[in-house]
Amino acid sequence: MRVFIAGIDGYLGWALAQYMTARGHEVAGADNMLRREWVEEVGSISAIPVASREDRLQAFNEHYGKDLDFRDGDLCDYEFLTAFFEEFQPEAIVHLGQMPSAPYSMIDQKHSVWTQVNNITSNLNLLWAMREVVPDAHLVKLGTMGEYGQPNIDIAEGFFEVEYRGRKDKLPFPRQPGSFYHLSKVHDSHNTHFATKIWKLRATDIMQGVVFGTQFPSMKDDDRLRTRLDFDQCFGTAINRFVCKLLLGIR
Ligand SMILES: NC(=O)c1ccc[n+]([C@@H]2O[C@H](COP(=O)([O-])OP(=O)(O)OC[C@H]3O[C@@H](n4cnc5c(N)ncnc54)[C@H](O)[C@@H]3O)[C@@H](O)[C@H]2O)c1
Repeated sequence: MRVFIAGIDGYLGWALAQYMTARGHEVAGADNMLRREWVEEVGSISAIPVASREDRLQAFNEHYGKDLDFRDGDLCDYEFLTAFFEEFQPEAIVHLGQMPSAPYSMIDQKHSVWTQVNNITSNLNLLWAMREVVPDAHLVKLGTMGEYGQPNIDIAEGFFEVEYRGRKDKLPFPRQPGSFYHLSKVHDSHNTHFATKIWKLRATDIMQGVVFGTQFPSMKDDDRLRTRLDFDQCFGTAINRFVCKLLLGIR
């Protein structure tokens, strides 16, 4: 299957590119390398050195025996995206190419506006590009568990049956996000759901919880192929931060 990964240089994207390639799929992807800049902006680094794009591509070729079509480009650039789709004709599109940090989105006005513009535009562009170029492809969109917030009832997966004033319906489970980043994902969910209804596109919107780890079996034993491990206040998740503090002997 031809799989397009939006955000292929990211924590999940770089690992997924290898996982799908090892399973025999043809992979291509785009990234504008922003994750590296965000971590630098908040004054940190990945605990695992992250190889340059060129070194990653070289290592990929050496270990998987083929070139990876990984283009440096912006998902908010619609012409770039549609031209890529015209050429590659993806059958599956995995959207991982967004700004993923709640604290980063809350820094100030500039960061919250940028987060929503970047995240919502990239998702809308993917939906329009699918409709225009590859309407039979399947979109796998990474949403977040944080879209739901913390309601005082069990969270139904996606939709739930609701009865109100004697009438029943099956509706999306209510969203109560806790940051402007999480709100960007809620807007994506609505836009994606709407596109599946009016254009009959196929999409799976995954309300993903936090992912941990830096390696999996098909990833070869080469530092250039490893993904990242952040421990800063914006991009380092709680467990990453606790583990790093423990290893450094910081209380
Ligand atoms: N990692 C997790 O634990 C987790 C949990 C829940 C949801 N998610 C979601 O999964 C997705 C991927 O997460 P991640 O941890 O790999 O994040 P990440 O920041 O490592 O990866 C995102 C990648 O997208 C790229 N990107 C962002 N905007 C772009 C644009 N406009 N054009 C091109 N590239 C762009 C970044 O440069 C980065 O490489 C995110 O949408 C995130 O919200 C992740």
